[in-house]
Amino acid sequence: MVDLIRMGYPDLGREEAKAVYDQIISGWISQGRKTIQFEEDIASYTDSEFSVAMANGTVTLHAMLRSIGIEKGDLVLVPSLTYISSVNVIYLCNAIPLYCDVDPETLLLDISKLEKSILKYKPKAVMSVDLKGMPCDYDSINTICEESGVVHIADSAESLGATYKNKKVGSQALMHSFSLFANKTITTGEGGLVTTNSHFHEQNLRLLRNQAQGTKRYEHIEMGYNYRFTDIKAALGVSQVRRLESILELKGNIVSKLKSGLENKLRFQQIPSYVTRHSYYNLTCIFDNKVQRNRVQKGLNEANIETRISFPPCHLQPHHKNLQYLSLDELPSTVNAYSTMLDIPCHQNLSDDDVERITKSILDNL
Ligand SMILES: Cc1ncc(COP(=O)(O)O)c(C=O)c1O
Repeated sequence: MVDLIRMGYPDLGREEAKAVYDQIISGWISQGRKTIQFEEDIASYTDSEFSVAMANGTVTLHAMLRSIGIEKGDLVLVPSLTYISSVNVIYLCNAIPLYCDVDPETLLLDISKLEKSILKYKPKAVMSVDLKGMPCDYDSINTICEESGVVHIADSAESLGATYKNKKVGSQALMHSFSLFANKTITTGEGGLVTTNSHFHEQNLRLLRNQAQGTKRYEHIEMGYNYRFTDIKAALGVSQVRRLESILELKGNIVSKLKSGLENKLRFQQIPSYVTRHSYYNLTCIFDNKVQRNRVQKGLNEANIETRISFPPCHLQPHHKNLQYLSLDELPSTVNAYSTMLDIPCHQNLSDDDVERITKSILDNL
């Protein structure tokens, strides 16, 4: 049996092990000074004024919604083609998702449908999603939102290190949320970050993260949560940030090789010119139809190569299809993308042989 090619590996080594060891020995294991250092490193890396670390990339989304005052009955525009977290946090606020279709080529929010949907339903906020690690068209979304008085926050869980018009993702929307789960470009096992240029929201997020405890200990000035980070995770994070650029470079090279081996044979998530660096959380292939996609997936599986069909549209999820939501249309491109797309491995540890195996298996099964 040939070796399994996995979807991804966390890039962890001695440096991380030593940093965690040193942190434990220091006696500071809950949220403290190391977390502040990690937040400063991330703010500096993303060229944002502030960064707030939290327990994971779901609670960061919830905290952002709370910070902009989303409450019962409010509408939040969001793509249905996203991880379930983006939508669960809207329901957690007793608010209602206003699903918007995606562009069939980029798999990101369809800007013209977004505009129509905002004019028709007047949501309170837009949560854009940088699916697969590719930045949305932030300037266009911001312009439409500003004209209608809508707040724009970004679920950038997958796009740390990607660049939009040559600037790192992190300060284009009012706030950006990132995930540090094990399959992300860098990881702290579980973890999340918000970046923002708004001092008001930074302060709000810190308050919500710590049970909304004000300046007096054990005095809680609104409904808050334990969304705190830990210094053990921060020690890991500080080491991981140092690896981030090299991981992104390696992934970019692997993707170029995969794409050149498959050129003109199938489509990939299309990269608009405003994307100056895709972070390639995953490399997404788009097939002509579901039968072809399933055949290629089966072939890859038989060749011991992992793939993912991620994510089922949220409005079709067994639980969520029965909950209240709105949408301009039946979300045709979302539904079609789900039946024709396939994520293949593109992680930094792939050898030239691995790339050849993946390419050959796809070509053999087209
Ligand atoms: C688009 C998107 N949003 C939110 C999340 C949630 O992040 P976490 O798993 O850290 O809670 C993820 C994680 O996979 C994601 O891909």
